[in-house]
Formats: sequence, C-alpha cells, structure tokens
Amino acid sequence: MKSTYQSLVDAAFAAQKNAYAPYSNFHIGAALLTRDGHTVIGANIENASYGLTLCGERNAVFSAYAQGYRKEDIVALAIVSDSNPVASPCGACRQVLIELLEENTPVILASSKGGYQETSAKELLPFAFTKEQL
Ligand code: THU
Repeated sequence: MKSTYQSLVDAAFAAQKNAYAPYSNFHIGAALLTRDGHTVIGANIENASYGLTLCGERNAVFSAYAQGYRKEDIVALAIVSDSNPVASPCGACRQVLIELLEENTPVILASSKGGYQETSAKELLPFAFTKEQL
C-alpha cells in the first residue's frame, strides 16, 4: 500500500506498539501530522474498569490539543489496526473528531492486513451535534 500518507500510516503502526490493551487484545495506533511538520501519536489505553479506556485516535487528538495545536493545524490523521476490514472509529471518537478536526481533514484508516480507506470526520458523522447548536 502506497499513498501520500504512507509515512503517517507508518508512524501510526509504530504507535500501535504502545497500545495497552490486555482486556480486548485489540491494538489501535494513531498518528496525526501538524502543519508545522510534527507527528503526534496515540494508542488505545485500557483499564480494569473497562469504561475508562481511551481510544487510540482520541488519545492522539487530545494530545495534539494538549500541546497547543488546534483543528486548523492538523493536516491528516491515520488510525491503524490489525483488523479486516479496517477498524472504523467508534461513535464516541466520531463525536470528538467532528469537533476537534476540520470536517474535511483526511482521516486514513489502514490495517496490517492490507486494508486502506480515506475518509473524513464529516463523512464519519454526518448531521452531527455540534457547538453551533448550543
Ligand atoms: N478502540 C480504539 O482505540 N479505537 C476505535 O476506534 C475502536 C476501538 C479500542 C478501544 C478498546 O481498547 C479496543 O479498541 C476494543 O474496543
């Protein structure tokens, strides 16, 4: 698989090795590219109190925000797994992505099994609840 986002996908696969997922054994890696050329990574981190688990993509996006980046600074987000078909972000992550990414920012889903798909927060969560409605 070759694409414009190959190096970002590679960074997400490297981050996947940091996943802490002893309960599900389902490892997610994520990496986002910033306009100033930084790569911010995330991985899913589970807990014995299962509901406290943080998904890999949310971890990466929250980390970027914690470093001061905002949606307009983010060029693309890659999310990787070992699943076939590719793992698609959960509902909670879609809600986070629609707020913290620009709606058409590329979101790349890739799998070690070869799956590859490019999408966006808008495509993942159409007709979303957003702060404009508050
Ligand atoms: N997971 C993610 O990290 N991202 C997703 O989009 C789907 C699910 C994690 C949460 C949990 O640690 C494991 O995958 C199984 O649900």
